[in-house]
Amino acid sequence: MTEAPHVDVDPFAATSRGIDEPAPDRAALRAAGPIVQVDAPAGGRAWIVTDDAVARQVLADPRLVKDPAQAPPTWDRRTAGLERTAAEQPSLTTLDGPAHARLRRAHAPLLTGKRIREQSDRIHEIARDLLTASAGAAEVDLAADFTTRYPITVLLDLLGVPLDRVDRATEACRLMLGTDPADQGAAISALMDLGAAGLDSGQRGLAVELRERVPPETTADEVNYHLFALIFAGQLTTDASLGFLLARALADGPGGTPDDELVRATLRRYPPAPFTLWRYTTTEVEFAGVRLPAGAPVLVDIQGINAHGGADLSFGAGPHFCIGAQLAQLELRAAVAVLRADFPDARLTVPFGELRQSGVGGIQGTRLTALPVALRG
Ligand code: HEM
Repeated sequence: MTEAPHVDVDPFAATSRGIDEPAPDRAALRAAGPIVQVDAPAGGRAWIVTDDAVARQVLADPRLVKDPAQAPPTWDRRTAGLERTAAEQPSLTTLDGPAHARLRRAHAPLLTGKRIREQSDRIHEIARDLLTASAGAAEVDLAADFTTRYPITVLLDLLGVPLDRVDRATEACRLMLGTDPADQGAAISALMDLGAAGLDSGQRGLAVELRERVPPETTADEVNYHLFALIFAGQLTTDASLGFLLARALADGPGGTPDDELVRATLRRYPPAPFTLWRYTTTEVEFAGVRLPAGAPVLVDIQGINAHGGADLSFGAGPHFCIGAQLAQLELRAAVAVLRADFPDARLTVPFGELRQSGVGGIQGTRLTALPVALRG
């Protein structure tokens, strides 16, 4: 067994770069081995998996857990962006093993391909209405409003949250994109209120259905948190993907790459979750001949692995595979389809190569800084 080599780069640095520029450092990480060590943002070492096959093993291995209680005790929870522990805040992203599987079973039927396809017309309608509302202006920055407003509208509509909440929810999502902790705190509480609104609206949306399906000991606060978690996990990811996708669709022109192929290629090239969430080894483990000590914080480099043509890991793998993958892909396909069908003359008002992406760093991805478009040509 060998130790993972330490690589002296910072893949967690904030970044601002052109749309065509690859994420820095990924090639150096991969070149150093299938598992490498780097300095973790919250101190100490982190282990990053750069190899496709090892990633799949790691993501399916019960000796690695997500419960933040297992994070290095020296980590500052805010710097590390950790949720509360599974005991304090049971959720899909903090629970492991049978408790996680039980909660997954409660969620899964709500977001299957079949359930989501039943919403297809409605999702297309939301995309069409929002794009049409912006089409009057000679030029519109789709990354300033549309890419945020469209996915939050779809989520609220599905959950049964009254749509008069959309403006405030969109504003909260925008605040979450920044770095000010006070703004983020305000945004999170605004998003937490949305779940409650879905439960009290008198509509039978997915919020009410989820409440009926969770294990009987689940408290009202926990149900609210599960709803918040769906919104939180689904929003920033889809927002970021939409920007890259629409930029590519516009650069491609009508009659270009088919919608579903473009969605797949965009997710692979610009995965909005460039890393998985943190996992921690509960015991010493070995993968590909490399030793990881007990208590090691581990990430999978989704972006680096995707870039090298391995199986696409954009939505993760194993028991924590993205539960919203069907919804996200339908939303993305619907946005391209509507753009192409209803706005055939739409064009970027700057050359594609001049578009820029930026990100706050940590394990978060990048987003276009602007997407200026003339929707009517
Ligand atoms: C393009 C859009 C999206 C991408 C790329 C994405 C990506 C991911 C990835 C990589 C994971 C696994 C993280 C890990 O294993 O550590 C994940 C989990 C998750 N995603 Fe998504 N996601 C997207 C959209 C959504 C949407 C729309 C929803 C909800 C409606 C959602 C809800 C979740 C939840 C709840 C989890 C945690 C699942 C679990 O731990 O069991 N995601 N997502």
